[in-house]
Amino acid sequence: MLKKVRAAITGVHGYVPEYILTNEELTTMVDTSDEWIVTRTGIKERRILKDPGKASSDLAVKAINGLLEKTNTRASDIDLVLVATVTPDMQFPDTANIIRDKVGITKGFGFDINAACTGFIYTLSVAAKLIETGVARKAIVVGTEKMSTIVDYTDRNTCIIFGDGAGAVLLEPNYDDFGIMDEFLRSDGYGRQFLNMEGGGSLNPASHETVDARQHYVYQDGRQVFKFAVTGMQEAVTEIMLRNKLLTQDVKWLVPHQANIRIIQSTAEKAGFPMDKVMLNIERYGNTTAATIPLCLWDYEDQLVKGDQLILVAFGGGFTWGSILIKWAY
Ligand code: UT7
Repeated sequence: MLKKVRAAITGVHGYVPEYILTNEELTTMVDTSDEWIVTRTGIKERRILKDPGKASSDLAVKAINGLLEKTNTRASDIDLVLVATVTPDMQFPDTANIIRDKVGITKGFGFDINAACTGFIYTLSVAAKLIETGVARKAIVVGTEKMSTIVDYTDRNTCIIFGDGAGAVLLEPNYDDFGIMDEFLRSDGYGRQFLNMEGGGSLNPASHETVDARQHYVYQDGRQVFKFAVTGMQEAVTEIMLRNKLLTQDVKWLVPHQANIRIIQSTAEKAGFPMDKVMLNIERYGNTTAATIPLCLWDYEDQLVKGDQLILVAFGGGFTWGSILIKWAY
C-alpha cells in the first residue's frame, strides 16, 4: 500500500537582534509604565534591529544559515523558500528571492505570503501542500519581521507591543505519519479596518500627505482586535481538536501567536490547557508578528520529543486566523 506523504519539520532555528528595548526605555518615549505593559500584555522587553542598512531578509538569513548548519543541510539542496512577513525589504521583488540570493539558494523557487500574525501558519500550510504533492523536496519556511520600521514610537497603543526577529523551519517529506497532520485556516476582510498600514500601497502611494498623516505606521484598534482575537484563537483550537478527535491530554504543546498574554491565557483556559503546556516567550520578544511561532518552537526545541502532538494557533491582521496540528518528527 502506498504510504501517505506528509511534510515534517526536521529542524528549527531563530534569530533575534542584540538590542533590547525594555519597558523602562519605552517610558522615556511615551506616557506608559512597566506595570501597565506587563499586566496588560505580558511583555517586558523586545529586540530591535538598529542597523539601518539591514532589513527583514537579513534577520531571516541569520536564522536560515543557523538552520542549515545545525541540520547539516546544503543551501544547494533547498528547492523552496516561503516567507511570511508584513515588513518585506521592499514592495518588489519579494523577500523570498532576496533571501534565496543572500543564502545562495538557486534551485526551485520561493515567494512571500502576507497574512500578518497568521503568516507563519498560512505559509507552513502552503509549503506542506507543495511537499505533499512532490513539487518541493526540501523547503524552508521563515517568518521574519523588522516591525520597528513600521512602528510609530510616539503611539503608546502600538509601540509597546512589537519587536523584531526571525524564525525558520526545515520541511521535508515524511512517510511514517509524522509532520503536518491538519490545518484550519480562516480570513475575514471585515477586520481590515481595525489593524492595517494604509500608506505605501496602490491606494495611498507614498507622498508628503501620507507621511504627515502617519500612514506608514501600523494602526491598531487594540480593543476591537483583542475581542476578535480571543474568539478566533478559541475557534481555531476547538475546531482542529474536534476534527481530529483530540482531548487536551492528547496534545503536548499549545503554540500560540505571542500577541498578548491575556489572549493566550484565555485561549488556553477555554480549551482546557494548563499554562505549563503553553509555549511562551512574549516576555522577552514581544509580538514579532509572523516570527512568534517559529521563535517559540526554537526556544522549546530541546523539550520536544518525537511523536509529541502540537497545536499552532494564531490570529492577526486581515483578519486572518488559523491553527495547525503537528506530530513532531524528531
Ligand atoms: O498580533 C496581531 C493581533 N493583535 C493583537 O492581538 C493585539 C490585541 N490587542 C491588545 O493586545 C490590547 O488591546 C492592547 C495591549 C493593544 C491594549 O490593551 P487594552 O487592555 O485593550 O487597553 P485599551 O486599548 O482598552 O486601553 C485602556 C486604557 C486607555 O485609557 P482610558 O481610555 O481607559 O483612559 C488607554 O489610553 O489604557 C490606555 N493605554 C495605555 N496606558 C499606558 C493604552 N496604551 C497604553 C500604554 N500605557 N502603553
